[in-house]
This record gives sequence, C-alpha cells and structure tokens, in this order.
Amino acid sequence: MPTRVFTGLKPTGSLQLGNYLGAIRPLLDLAADPGADVVVCVADLHALTVEHDPALLRARTRELATTLLACGLDPSARLFVQSTVPAHTELAHLLECTATYGEMTRMVQFKEKSAGSDSIRLSLLTYPALMAADILAHDTEVVPVGEDQRQHLELTTTLARRFNARYGETFVIPRGSTPPTTARLKDLRDPRSKMGKTGSDGAGVLFLLDDPDTVAAKVRRAVTDGEPSLAFDPDGRPGVANLATLLGALTGRSPEEALAGLRGAGALKSAVTEAVVAALDPVRCRYAELEADPAEVDRVLRAGRDAVAPGAVATTARAREAIGLLGVA
Ligand code: TYM
Repeated sequence: MPTRVFTGLKPTGSLQLGNYLGAIRPLLDLAADPGADVVVCVADLHALTVEHDPALLRARTRELATTLLACGLDPSARLFVQSTVPAHTELAHLLECTATYGEMTRMVQFKEKSAGSDSIRLSLLTYPALMAADILAHDTEVVPVGEDQRQHLELTTTLARRFNARYGETFVIPRGSTPPTTARLKDLRDPRSKMGKTGSDGAGVLFLLDDPDTVAAKVRRAVTDGEPSLAFDPDGRPGVANLATLLGALTGRSPEEALAGLRGAGALKSAVTEAVVAALDPVRCRYAELEADPAEVDRVLRAGRDAVAPGAVATTARAREAIGLLGVA
C-alpha cells in the first residue's frame, strides 16, 4: 500500500520562503518517492478564521494553487480546494464533539492570534478541529508541516485516538514530519520571529514570487550583527543563523557548512541572494506560464477534488456511523 501524504496551506497571503522550506519542499521530496500517494489542499476555510476580503480570498486561493504547481507539484498529485469537499466540514463537527474547550484554548496559535483583539471569530478557536478533519478525512499517514503546526498535529492524533478508543477503530493515526533545519524560518528584519505570510510589513519576508531585485533589497536589509566574523549561534546571533540556515537549505548543506569560507555579513548576504534567486527564478517563470492559463489550474483543482472526495466521504461515513448517527439512506 502506498503511504498517504497530506498537507494543507491557507490562502491568507502569498506563499513565502518559510512555507517553501518548511512544508512545500519537504512535500515535494516525499512526493518523489514512488511509494507516496500525495494529497494537498488549499485550506480556504481556514482563511475565514480571521478578517478577510471575499474577492481577495478567491484570488489568493487560485494564486496559492498556481504557486504550488509552479514549485513543481505534479498535477497528478491530488491538489484541491478544501471547501469543494464538504466532508471536511462535516467531519470537523464530529471532531469538535470529540475535543474539549480547554484543549482548543490551549493552542498557542489561538493565544497568539487572539491576543489584543476584542473581536475574535469563533472559528479561530475551533480551527484545529477542522485541520484535524482535513488530515483524518484522507486516511493520512504522514503530514509534512513546519514547527508552528506541530501542536495542531499533536491534537489531531489525540482526537483520532480518543475517537477510536471511544467509538471503535475509525481513523488512521497520522504522524507529522518536520524538516531538520528549516522547520521555523525567521523574519529577515526580526530574526527572533517566524517568517510569515501576514503579520509584518513584508520587509523581512521573501515571497516565492519576488523578483531578483526585490530579493536582493530584502536580503541586503536583513538584520545581522556588528561582529566581523561569522558563526552559527541561533541564540546569540539569530540573524546570521537564520541566513546560514536558509543558505544551507537551498544549497544542500548544514548551516555551519554554508558559513565555511564566507567572510563577513556582506559575503553571506550575497551568497543568500544568489541562492534564493536561483531557487525562485524557475518558480516565477513557471508561475507566469500557468497564470496565463487559469483554465488549466481549474482543471487540476477539479480533478483533485473528484479524485479525493469519495475517500473523504467514506471516512466521514465511517465516523458518522461509529459516533451513533442514524443515517437513514
Ligand atoms: P500555513 O498556511 O500557515 O502554512 C503552510 C505551511 O508552511 C509552514 N510554515 C513554515 N515553515 C517553516 N518556517 C516558517 N517561517 C513557516 N511559516 C509557515 C507551516 O508550518 C505549514 O506547514 N493550519 C495550516 C494549514 C492547514 C494544514 C491542514 C496543514 C490546514 N489544514 C492539514 C497540514 C494539514 C496553516 O495555517 O498553515
């Protein structure tokens, strides 16, 4: 039996290098194994958990799908839009009935995103149940994600085990997979914080569709420190460590190896710019081709939906029956 690999990305902004090195490239590496059976979802319902603009959400959903294909995701991998498979929301309700309020309020992302806000959408609190449904609906075994999703993944396995123990074997228990060095890439301007699609002014975020001049300008303004020599010291010298991590990941080396032979922050920044531009150039070119043919992207999304929906419906039907719903045909 092939190994079911599943991940999701939410269209709250343009994809950035943290998404790429934390989740997309590890996903593509897993997909290269002929024994892998890959399913990827554009998690548009998750984007509704925070303030949003309807037209922008629609545009970003297509942009995200197009960018994933431009990164090299094979159109035969099942790529689909979450909301087009309603079994996800149905299963989410059954998992909300398996989780507790305490578990949801303990989620670090909920605490971070709700802090200081007096109008929090209820769905921001319940979102991990929907994410668990995304994963469990597809009988997922491996979930490539960055560090920030690890807690949600742990909750997913807790809920799956609890459901199975209480109502009988229903769900496959998934495991997360995080990359060794790039599970939490940092913002170039604020190297103690995570690089993210949203939340900063974007000056320290390398977006996958940034052109070479923009990449060069952002890397030039990356925060380092005044020390003349280079060393990999994530706690003491987070800016240099983040650039070394990035350079190493893009050139197939450890962060320490990436620094060897480089003299000073200027040389490090030049090497980083070169490596990022080399990695992103093909993505940008392919994106331009795909963007000119939106019907093809729609075709991939439709084929993805059609391929995965029956499995998700079957898993949800198992869960409905196990939990005690009558299900009159
Ligand atoms: P999202 O859209 O915030 O991020 C998508 C993926 O990118 C990873 N990531 C990072 N990795 C390393 N360094 C960073 N700076 C960085 N920023 C983001 C994230 O960890 C994630 O793997 N809830 C999810 C989307 C989702 C999902 C799922 C994921 C919905 N359903 C089911 C897995 C399985 C999210 O908000 O990811």
